Amino acid sequence: MSQLVLRARAPSNIALIKYMGKKDSSRNLPENGSISLTLDALCSLAEVSVAAGRGTVEWRPELPAPPAGVGALSFQVPHLSEEGKAKVLRQVERVRSAAHELLPRWGVPLRPGLVDAASSERWVFRTANSFPQASGIASSASSFAAVTLATAGACAAERESFQRAWRAEPPFRAALARVSREGSGSSCRSLDGPWVQWEGEDVSVLPSRLPRLAHFVLLVSSQAKKVSSSEAHQRVKGSPLWQGRVERVERRLAQLRQAIGEGELAEVARVAWSEAWEMHSLFHTAAEPFSYWEPGTMLALQALAPWVRETEPPIVTLDAGPNIHVIVEATRTPLWEPRLRALGFELLRDGQGTGGGLL
Ligand code: DP6
Repeated sequence: MSQLVLRARAPSNIALIKYMGKKDSSRNLPENGSISLTLDALCSLAEVSVAAGRGTVEWRPELPAPPAGVGALSFQVPHLSEEGKAKVLRQVERVRSAAHELLPRWGVPLRPGLVDAASSERWVFRTANSFPQASGIASSASSFAAVTLATAGACAAERESFQRAWRAEPPFRAALARVSREGSGSSCRSLDGPWVQWEGEDVSVLPSRLPRLAHFVLLVSSQAKKVSSSEAHQRVKGSPLWQGRVERVERRLAQLRQAIGEGELAEVARVAWSEAWEMHSLFHTAAEPFSYWEPGTMLALQALAPWVRETEPPIVTLDAGPNIHVIVEATRTPLWEPRLRALGFELLRDGQGTGGGLL
């Protein structure tokens, strides 16, 4: 066979209602629903080359070919542990086996060679992130979404029919999001956008009347996490604050959906602020307590707190890390960017996006 090369890109996303705690960790089914904003330039690339071989799949620490149409972003190869590599390869297998049933259902013919790919093809993956590993930005959402897309694309007979279904069929995107979720939960929210809700098996785009948003990260620290998010999902259940969490999140999900739908930015900011504090309180009060905060996290939160009470508040949230995400109306960037810079941390800047796709 001649070599097939396929490239996909997927952005990261930032949750305002958090996925924290799993009902079924073998399939990454969450205890509660979550809602996130899909980002744009903070993203991952995945490239797969398929050639005749002996049924191998490997990940190589090499840069994928630079993509056209992704602007001036500079990509870096992540450092993957043996466990990290194994997780990616398991995801490739998962997507390949799901593709047999999934692609034809949306009118995407399967590549004839796929039937015996497991014995007669050699798949080589290269991945890269537009943000350095040391930037403290979690890469599992964007990289699992990109690997899922590249793998599914390489299972299709032609790129065009895959692209057509991808663009025209939200349920096709939602079905691939479910497969992505099994690799890493939060990645299921990176395939579409800008506002994505994930509840149980379902991933959907929320109607929004919010204005276009700008997203900033205050880089408090770029140290590697001491507690992985997979471990955090387990440890939060040992907190006395876990009790009632699912019910509280239900209420917040309804409030946030309504605020997004009605374009109430101040209400979005209020809900996001409570939720971020609650997730970190779960960490701090777990039976085996842990914290992602650095001294700079506290300083930044103290500086941001009065602004969150203003009439035009920024949306402030934290992931499972020390850095602080600040989201504001894009047209208000000239006001907010200097305010945020004055806090003295390195600042990353991005915007809202619409999810992943083939390149
Ligand atoms: C704090 O998606 O990284 O970012 O499913 O184990 O891969 P796994 O977990 P992961 O958890 C992310 C948790 C979070 C909150 C969120 O993005 O909703």
